[in-house]
Amino acid sequence: MSNRKILVTSALPYANGEIHLGHLLEYIQTDIWVRFQKMMGNECHFVCADDAHGTPIMLKANELGITPEELIQSVSERHQADFREFSIGFSQYHSTHSQENKEISAGIYNKLNDAGFIKKRIISQAFDPEKQMFLPDRFIKGDCPKCGASDQYGDNCEVCGATYSPTELKNAKSAISGATPVTKDSQHYFFDLPQFETQLKEWTKAGHLQDEVSNKLAEWFEQGLQQWDISRDAPYFGFQIPGVKGKYFYVWLDAPIGYMASFKKLCIDTGLDFDEYFNKDSATELYHFIGKDIVYFHALFWPAMLMGADYRTPNAIFAHGFLTVNGQKMSKSRGTFIQARTYLESLNPEYLRYYYAYKLSAKIDDIDLNLEDFKQRVNSDLVGKVVNIASRSAGFVVKKFNKTLSAYAVEPQLYQEFVDQGEQISKLYEARNYNQAMRKIMKLADKANQYIDEHKPWQLIKEEGKKAQVHDVASLAINLFRVLMTYLKPVLPVMAEQAEAFLNIDSLNWDDIKHPLTKHQINKFKPLMLRIEDAQISQVVENSKQSIQATELEKEEDDSMIQIDDFTKIDLRIAKIVKAQAVDGADKLLQLTLDIGEESTRNVFAGIKAHYNPEDLEGRLTVMVANLAPRKMKFGVSEGMVLAASDGKSLHILSPDSGAQAGMKIS
Ligand code: 2FM
Ligand code: ZN
Repeated sequence: MSNRKILVTSALPYANGEIHLGHLLEYIQTDIWVRFQKMMGNECHFVCADDAHGTPIMLKANELGITPEELIQSVSERHQADFREFSIGFSQYHSTHSQENKEISAGIYNKLNDAGFIKKRIISQAFDPEKQMFLPDRFIKGDCPKCGASDQYGDNCEVCGATYSPTELKNAKSAISGATPVTKDSQHYFFDLPQFETQLKEWTKAGHLQDEVSNKLAEWFEQGLQQWDISRDAPYFGFQIPGVKGKYFYVWLDAPIGYMASFKKLCIDTGLDFDEYFNKDSATELYHFIGKDIVYFHALFWPAMLMGADYRTPNAIFAHGFLTVNGQKMSKSRGTFIQARTYLESLNPEYLRYYYAYKLSAKIDDIDLNLEDFKQRVNSDLVGKVVNIASRSAGFVVKKFNKTLSAYAVEPQLYQEFVDQGEQISKLYEARNYNQAMRKIMKLADKANQYIDEHKPWQLIKEEGKKAQVHDVASLAINLFRVLMTYLKPVLPVMAEQAEAFLNIDSLNWDDIKHPLTKHQINKFKPLMLRIEDAQISQVVENSKQSIQATELEKEEDDSMIQIDDFTKIDLRIAKIVKAQAVDGADKLLQLTLDIGEESTRNVFAGIKAHYNPEDLEGRLTVMVANLAPRKMKFGVSEGMVLAASDGKSLHILSPDSGAQAGMKIS
């Protein structure tokens, strides 16, 4: 067994909101990885903390009439209770508002400053004269300078998509006091990121990042790195910049340092050696699991800060995509903005752990939690396949054979086949391709059930002289169940524990499954997991609608609306139909050859055969979506879509007004 030393982090949740299913995607992804590493015999520490600083937290505490310290204390307790119930096994859960973080942040800042990486510059910003504070962009509202829409945030217009600086907003008002902001100068501190360009370019290409992330970074390098504003003026809830009165570290400076601080606390409590993990020449491994929205901070600012302050850099940043529920952004009005608490009131946390594992890969694609699919998947895989193996076999062993398994595995090749898959499965866990690991495990579960189906112990038991065979079949099935539960243990720690009790063993270990349990006494079987009922799902959705929190700062977006930039993504063009023909074997389709002013024509299959004679279409102009991803159809590849109006009965393809020509863009 290997013995790597690994430190793992998940992103720090802000201390002003509740944990929801979107957060949990990441904590579950990380936790599975950590549990897997431990099962492999590696030393693996998993640290996290509440991200406790910043203006929103300060203002929320004001609003509630409590101190920020009181707010972050109570939020931290709730966060930790949620994490516990979902079996997120942090080695340490700390706060960025801690002594350890204060010291390490000051230390890093001083090193960066001494090395010439901190610059000062005066900048002008919006200032609330009533509250006597500078206003972050999201706390300024006014009319969009481009389209005039009212009630828009200080940095972008949600109606027309324009981006601007808050000073350009018309009728700007402070979202905190309603006062008209004034512009005020103040000196800010900057981290001089451009000085790290060469080193960062090298680092980002050296295998520490997923390909999609490296590509994104290449774009950012092309746009040029900017100095990063790391200071905020009082009043601010955070750490004062050493030796600079009235100036604080911006929350995003001390947040990643919070990873180190949380680990430092763990070292203090347990005697681990902090330097061994963070010295420049460290032989230990460091991994950060994050969402794709915070790549900039983790793949540029953070390694640069570590380089500048002479610490080691991470081995890898593992980014994941966003969570959608039922195919859409989580929505409070639809009841799909589901908090951890609300989920827990109705559903077993291990259902979600399994479903996320079933969906998660090493890619940064978004993950959809389709509630119907979730129910079916859990019921069919966990209850219908895995638990079923034990539940249909245990009774025989317990009642007929004094709870004792037979003396050998009756089909050694089958057992060996299950054991052999372990290597592949462990590689998939290591590479964070949990989705593939789950599929492999479920294939094995199918095999085990097939084995039972073929041997029908419930029939054999009624036949003369077949008792020993029943013993062998049921014992092998239970041994196969043991192998599967070992493979599932990183995902389902609670069910694994119940399985350990049933199997009467200390612990399901990866190394132990080489040998089946023989002549071993098991315990009476208790149902390990219940089916999800429709009513439980509807209850979660209903309760989520009700738990809409008035205190949430963010405003609900209407998901049926799209933003202007969603619309402009669609490349609409005038197309000339140069050829139209029926497709052999297709009742509804016409194959269109379209000229859109490009060198080659486009091939499009359109479901319009019932409405048009192909000859009548040739030579006509119409409108097509030119950047629809090509779709492979039975009859060939369709390279776009023609627009048509329909009431479900009749259908009319669109035509431009006279004068339009093939290739013209539509906006
Ligand atoms: O985006 C967020 O929710 C931040 N609170 C994450 C911080 S992660 C790290 F850098 F501390
Ligand atoms: Zn606008």
